Amino acid sequence: MAGEDFTMRDLAQAVQAQMALHGKDAEKILEGIRDPVGKILASDLSTIGVKREGNHIDESRYLYYDGEMSITFDHLPEGKDIPPHDHGIWEMLAIYSGRLHHTVYDRKDDGSKEGYAELEAIDDRVLEPGEISMVAPPAEIHSFTALTDDTWSVTIVGGKYKLDRHYYDPAKSSCRIANPKKQKVV
Ligand SMILES: [Fe+2]
Repeated sequence: MAGEDFTMRDLAQAVQAQMALHGKDAEKILEGIRDPVGKILASDLSTIGVKREGNHIDESRYLYYDGEMSITFDHLPEGKDIPPHDHGIWEMLAIYSGRLHHTVYDRKDDGSKEGYAELEAIDDRVLEPGEISMVAPPAEIHSFTALTDDTWSVTIVGGKYKLDRHYYDPAKSSCRIANPKKQKVV
């Protein structure tokens, strides 16, 4: 099937089918949606979508939203460091254009000490167009910085973000709870 024949509805249905099959097993979901995501990345997304208020970014568009699962098209601002944060749900980032320095962390402490968090980077790489990263519990913390001014991602989130999300400062082994919509985190 050519890229342009594959629609957002097809992708949404593929994601839903894999979620029904694999529940919360994000790695298995990822393997099941690699092909459909690749097809969407090969299509022209420049003229579709509905404007959305992003959490960290200025330009974000809904490609699909059903009250839980969402697919968005996000312009990631060049040189802006988005600090390590969690989501409470799996989030998949697929690079449509540009380049993204992306780091995934595992939290090593048990979370019992308020304001304290020990993070270990477990995946630190530059994502190129067509590459996909799945950030999912228990290692659901990531940070990123776009390296070009045309860095766009297709982002799929498997459900609602938790309301109070953690933001981390690995160098200080600290963390704080912040609602990204209420506080200008970055
Ligand atoms: Fe995120």
